[in-house]
Amino acid sequence: MAEDTRKFRNALGCFATGVAVITTQAEGRAPIGITVNSFSSVSLDPPLVLWSLDKKSDTMPIFSKVEAFTVNILREDHREISSRLSKQGDHSLEGLATRTGANGCPALEDALAHFECDVYARHDAGDHIILLGRVTHYEYSEDGRPLLYHRGGYQGLAAGNF
Ligand SMILES: Cc1cc2nc3c(=O)[nH]c(=O)nc-3n(C[C@H](O)[C@H](O)[C@H](O)COP(=O)(O)O)c2cc1C
Repeated sequence: MAEDTRKFRNALGCFATGVAVITTQAEGRAPIGITVNSFSSVSLDPPLVLWSLDKKSDTMPIFSKVEAFTVNILREDHREISSRLSKQGDHSLEGLATRTGANGCPALEDALAHFECDVYARHDAGDHIILLGRVTHYEYSEDGRPLLYHRGGYQGLAAGNF
């Protein structure tokens, strides 16, 4: 990786995020999931969220066509799921507990929250595409702690509030 790109990534890594797995199922293909931290809320009315996908991702041919996806927000004990679904070319959900949502996409059981989405728009954005999803159904847990990502590593919430 070029030095400038590495520095830019390091600078971006100062911004702590949660970790999500985006799941989908294209017709006639096995369900897949990819780990992302680019998830963001966008609009309340209509309810819109977004995430961005590297154009070089093996999952690009699928996410550039599907009409729906589900955002699964990971819990702090989901590090293994996050690592597994961020391995290049290995996005199978085999062996993971899932259920099919009303949008036809698999949802990870035990996620902290799920947002079932229909694809609202895709925007070209440099070496990524931005996928905007219109939330058609969501569920969340009142308790439980999120998996966090900061400076290229996993973190948990510090105990207590500031
Ligand atoms: C914490 C974390 C966050 C990530 N966020 C994104 C993201 O927002 N968008 C993206 O395209 N890839 C992201 N990745 C990389 C993908 O999960 C995955 O490693 C990469 O797409 C693997 O290559 P493949 O998609 O060609 O199989 C992230 C990886 C990790 C570990």
